[in-house]
Amino acid sequence: MGRTSQAVLVILCVLRTVKAFEMEIIPAERIVAQIGDTLILTCNTTGCASPSFSWRTQMDSPLGGKVSNHRTHSTLTMNPVSVVNSHSYLCTVICESAEKERKEKSVKVELYSFPSDPIIEISPSLVAGEPATVICKIPDVYPSDHLEVSLKKDEDTLHEKDFFQDESTNTETKIVTYTFHSKPEDIGKDITCVARLHIADMDFEPKERASSQKFNANFGPQNTVITASPGNSPMEGDSLNLTCMTQSNPPAQIVWSKYLAEESIQHLIKSNVLSIPHVHFNDSGLYVCEVINPVTNKTEKATLDIIIQGAPVITKLSIEPSTTVQEGENVSIHCSAESNPPPKIILRRKSENANMGPFSDRSILLPSVRFQNGGDYECVAENKFGNSKSEITLNVKYGPKNTMITVIPTDTLKEGETVTMKCTSSGNPAPVISWKKKKATGESEEISKNATLTIQNLKSKDLGLYECEAYNLFGKEEKAVELYIQARLEEPDQMIPLIIAFSSVAAIAVPTVAVLIYVSRQAKINGSYSLVKALRLKV
Ligand SMILES: *[C@@H]1O[C@H](CO)[C@@H](O)[C@H](O)[C@H]1NC(C)=O
Ligand SMILES: *[C@@H]1O[C@H](CO)[C@@H](O)[C@H](O)[C@H]1NC(C)=O
Ligand SMILES: *[C@@H]1O[C@H](CO)[C@@H](O)[C@H](O)[C@H]1NC(C)=O
Ligand SMILES: *[C@@H]1O[C@H](CO)[C@@H](O)[C@H](O)[C@H]1NC(C)=O
Ligand SMILES: *[C@@H]1O[C@H](CO)[C@@H](O)[C@H](O)[C@H]1NC(C)=O
Ligand SMILES: *[C@@H]1O[C@H](CO)[C@@H](O)[C@H](O)[C@H]1NC(C)=O
Repeated sequence: MGRTSQAVLVILCVLRTVKAFEMEIIPAERIVAQIGDTLILTCNTTGCASPSFSWRTQMDSPLGGKVSNHRTHSTLTMNPVSVVNSHSYLCTVICESAEKERKEKSVKVELYSFPSDPIIEISPSLVAGEPATVICKIPDVYPSDHLEVSLKKDEDTLHEKDFFQDESTNTETKIVTYTFHSKPEDIGKDITCVARLHIADMDFEPKERASSQKFNANFGPQNTVITASPGNSPMEGDSLNLTCMTQSNPPAQIVWSKYLAEESIQHLIKSNVLSIPHVHFNDSGLYVCEVINPVTNKTEKATLDIIIQGAPVITKLSIEPSTTVQEGENVSIHCSAESNPPPKIILRRKSENANMGPFSDRSILLPSVRFQNGGDYECVAENKFGNSKSEITLNVKYGPKNTMITVIPTDTLKEGETVTMKCTSSGNPAPVISWKKKKATGESEEISKNATLTIQNLKSKDLGLYECEAYNLFGKEEKAVELYIQARLEEPDQMIPLIIAFSSVAAIAVPTVAVLIYVSRQAKINGSYSLVKALRLKV
């Protein structure tokens, strides 16, 4: 355990032939020995053939060692040296040669014990701000009444103690305890225990021993803050770094979280920097940095409100139930955009006349939609950073409407002339138009799939009711026109006897089942209609 110094004294006896009888003790005079070491005293003679040796202490106490006699010398071995060896030792030699000669010498053995460096203990699981206790143990000291101990924090002396009042009779382990209020800045400083065993006139090394330990206290987390770079209102698209700073020993564990709108917390990363390369509006919110010291179990939280600024982004422009609807359905158009500051949103029907059409903040309701409501709608979201536009088309499907027949020429006609009847109709999808002619039997016969019906060289056989049908998936509508004889020209040349007129015959839009109703200004057109009878008419 103890550190053995080179206290084993090996004393060589050099034999010489000398005339006189002499003796010596090696080492001579004072001996400073450390308790626990081995000490050999040698009593050497010269000039005597067979000396006899005896060892004793001056007080006649036990020798506390083993004597070993040789021809011309004797050794006294103290192994280990202990407190009982603190004496003056006397070696007496009697030489039996010529006359009985007796010589003696003494040597004083002085003892100390200072075998090892102090042992420092700092009371466990320290928390800064709370008392810290330093315990310094100096093992196996002798004589302790010469021991001085000082405790230092770096260069500052915390405490000093001496044991000058001790009555030491044997080696003792001395303990110095000191309690102080630690501060966070003490962490990392050296706590040193210096023990000095200073005895005047006693030569030994070392007389001073020291040990140190780095002071470590657990504390925190405290002063937790979040800093945002470049700031807490970055522009959309910017890079944002949130740094959580805290004071803690050992270093705190960090967990980031973010409050979402519904008060629920979303857990993010475990690192002290939360980096968002390109922020988006939905990154706005309350960020929470929670730190925990794994040793003290203390936690602390810091929060920071982040508001992402920027020009609006239209997040939704939609038509419910669908962009393609049938007339009569309840339609709603919604536009939403996000930005900070909040955007002003205008949703309106797009047209040449910008002020036309319904517009409202962010939704348009079209209960029982009409075909006129179909078309392009635009949403404009704007704030001080800019605006954003988006368009959507409402496609309203409807059955044929406004079916019209145009007859050219608009005047009365003469036999042999050409007449053109043009049928038009609106509807979505565009209606398919066909022409039919009512036969004498009352049946209708399809005569053309072209919207424009041209009759050249008008004859009496061409008289009658012409029906135009406009048809699409959502219904059909019919219109009719009648060609009839308005008058007969009283001309000698009977080649052009007829004046033919036309009259529109109302028909009805038929969304589901086509029912053709026509009204004639003339007599009812039926199977008995004859040109002869008509010719008799004079207007
Ligand atoms: C005794 O002394 C003589 C003469 O000084 C020396 O030569 C001899 O080595 C010594 N013996 C011991 C055991 O020290
Ligand atoms: C955020 O941190 C990243 C990585 O350390 C760095 O490249 C970026 O420039 C930082 N951005 C800001 C705004 O500090
Ligand atoms: C935030 O918006 C971006 C871009 O629109 C999207 O990719 C991301 O999923 C959104 N995040 C959340 C949490 O809504
Ligand atoms: C800290 O908490 C952990 C888990 O809850 C527990 O095991 C530990 O003993 C605690 N430490 C202290 C110093 O309270
Ligand atoms: C349209 O809305 C009205 C009033 O809310 C409702 O009475 C009607 O049934 C709805 N029509 C359709 C086609 O959903
Ligand atoms: C309809 O008539 C016009 C003019 O007479 C003609 O140009 C066109 O090709 C016709 N269309 C059909 C589908 O017959």
